[in-house]
Amino acid sequence: MKTLRYLFLFLFIFSITISCSKKSKTGEAKYLVGFSQCNNAEPWRQAMNSNAKKEAEKYKDLIKLEFTDAQQDNSKQIADVENFIRKKVDLLIISPNEAKPLSGVVSKAYRSGIPVIVLDRGLETDDYTCFIGADNRLIGEEAGKYIAKLLKGKGKIVEIQGLPGSPPAIDRSEGFRSIIKNYPDIKIIHTIVADWLRPLAITQMEIVLRAHDKIDLVYAHNDPMAIGAYLAAKNAGREKEMFFIGIDGLPDPSGGVKAVIDGKLEATFLYPTCGKEAIQYAIKILKGEKVPKKITLKTALITKENAEKYYDPDVKFY
Ligand code: FRU
Repeated sequence: MKTLRYLFLFLFIFSITISCSKKSKTGEAKYLVGFSQCNNAEPWRQAMNSNAKKEAEKYKDLIKLEFTDAQQDNSKQIADVENFIRKKVDLLIISPNEAKPLSGVVSKAYRSGIPVIVLDRGLETDDYTCFIGADNRLIGEEAGKYIAKLLKGKGKIVEIQGLPGSPPAIDRSEGFRSIIKNYPDIKIIHTIVADWLRPLAITQMEIVLRAHDKIDLVYAHNDPMAIGAYLAAKNAGREKEMFFIGIDGLPDPSGGVKAVIDGKLEATFLYPTCGKEAIQYAIKILKGEKVPKKITLKTALITKENAEKYYDPDVKFY
């Protein structure tokens, strides 16, 4: 009888200790979700984080989000994920900086039993629970078709590419080129690599402007680089000579949609941030539901004709 009482006492103390340690990991929430962001400095990333936070607010009792910022540095992001593994997060959400360097550590997390949601940029491993993003090859193709029509099958193009090791940069270029190659009078006269960054696009575009006295269009893999190119052309007094096309279509007053309304960009393509969906799928996974391996979100062409529909002057991401 005495042993039984000790056993009950032991079980009671044990369960208290377990529930306390769970609470100290997450506060009031049941699960800790690690969110490894590749770079917080870019507007689209801030929009992703903000959309995720807003959605997570609805599930305060269930999940606590913990963000890390890798500042576009692969080794920092690897260390961030290692840290989440050590902390034994209940789920990992990651938007990887570059595919190859991040694949190993994501695989390690997944194999240690942590469910993993990969956002926007793919990896070179299948060791994750699900991928959420838009079809970047399709975006490139749609951009190619739109541009061929805009230029009436003839013109000189400058392409501004994102970070070379990140799959969207490769897909947006390949999709675009697969269409443009069918138009012999459209020439890509210069390719710039600006790593997704506006300041880099400005300085590179200044060089390109000096090298070519006639440019008909700039196709940039994201809006910050497209706007950077526009600013460089404006400084040189040449912004009216060419069209500027971007990708992202953020709805806030400093985003790509407003740049279309203001006539700086001729068009942009909506690239959904996946922040809200990441949380919705995280909840499903944590509740034990089965989710698809790949979730593809829709894109859209945004021009002056439909830009107002995508614009939201009240939205703030910062
Ligand atoms: C932000 C960003 C976006 C782009 C996406 C591609 O880091 O460069 O502008 O659409 O990443 O992964």
